[in-house]
Amino acid sequence: MAGLSDLRAGFDPATVKEDFTLLRNPHHDHPLVYLDSAASSQRPDSVLAAMDDYYCRSHANVHRGVYRLAEEATSLYEGARQKIGDFIGAPDPGREIIFTKNVTEALNLVAQSWGRANLRPGDAIVLTEIEHHANLVPWLMLASEIGFEIRYLRLGEDGELDLSRLEETVEGAKLVGVTMCSNVLGTLVPVSQIAQAAHAAGAVVVADGAQYVPHLPTDVSSLGADLMAFTGHKMLGPTGIGVLWGKAEILDAMPPFLGGGEMIKDVRLDGFIPNDLPWKFEAGTPPIAEAIGLGAAVDYLSGLGMAAIREHEITLLSYAMKKLEADHGDALVIHGPSRPERRGGVLSMQLDGVHAHDLSQVLDSRGVCVRAGHHCAKPLMRCLGLAATARASFYIYNDESDIDALSDALGEARSFFA
Ligand code: ALA
Repeated sequence: MAGLSDLRAGFDPATVKEDFTLLRNPHHDHPLVYLDSAASSQRPDSVLAAMDDYYCRSHANVHRGVYRLAEEATSLYEGARQKIGDFIGAPDPGREIIFTKNVTEALNLVAQSWGRANLRPGDAIVLTEIEHHANLVPWLMLASEIGFEIRYLRLGEDGELDLSRLEETVEGAKLVGVTMCSNVLGTLVPVSQIAQAAHAAGAVVVADGAQYVPHLPTDVSSLGADLMAFTGHKMLGPTGIGVLWGKAEILDAMPPFLGGGEMIKDVRLDGFIPNDLPWKFEAGTPPIAEAIGLGAAVDYLSGLGMAAIREHEITLLSYAMKKLEADHGDALVIHGPSRPERRGGVLSMQLDGVHAHDLSQVLDSRGVCVRAGHHCAKPLMRCLGLAATARASFYIYNDESDIDALSDALGEARSFFA
């Protein structure tokens, strides 16, 4: 089997790994094999240094003081907003990039703000059966209160969405919410095709980019969606920061989500005037160090190149799918699209006769970290007839040696549970 070293283009994962202190530490006396980046990636030392530097040299609250430190902190925070907006091709980052706590909060913002302003009893929205709970539960909560209908695009063949009745499903809907990449199956969803049908029906499109933006080049001006959410901790940044991008005219028309300091222009005892974008949606002291850390993460990713990162993941997926099939045959089922080009860097696996939690514990004892469970996508798991899978997920610091270690550990689990 050809090695990644023969196939790889762009960057060397072994060199990348050198930039991550945590990845150099052993795990249960084995070299650490970190295959859980879809849950949370690791972060390079440059991201930690940017946050450390900010706290050591420039920390003050933003948008409030007129002394030098406060101005420096504000300029670093707003500079991060611009950089992150440029990274996803946002036409107007200074208005369209809203910092939230995570993707879940970004999608709750859309549901609570856009949803409350626009949805009435008897209306309809469309979601998909493969959504993460973050793009299901906020809408289920609102639907139970307002009384609108939720329709679903269903899972079809080979881990892909069934789009055979797309036009019919979106007809008359006010919003279509869709993941860009399934966190369970890895399926890359044709967002622009769905958005085209949704727009023709007069619906607004919100995309969940949690598993996409960290891994593939993203350009919101050609994506087709009107709003898109993604999160820092899955793309080398810190926890505690997510992003909602939206077209300025849509965000402008949405009422504030959380109320408090900074999100206002004026407050009187009988009312308030909301602030301009994006601060209208950033009540209270924002995640300043986290935004700066995410800016440094974006610098790191841009240094490697998102096209090269995608190429690396396709190569790694191809190697993994061939290697696991060769070593384990029918004993191991890998869910999701059969063509690596159709999927992001996640492999949900089921080992014959072994519960995913037991499997992940055996893998852990060999230094191999994977996620086991329902992956916060219970409707999809029900549709697959599964309670849990063990999910390996890849990123820029993984290479063929990690896949070999995974396959060897799976072999050990098969002997152990035989
Ligand atoms: N949404 C994250 C995952 O899929 C936590 O693991």
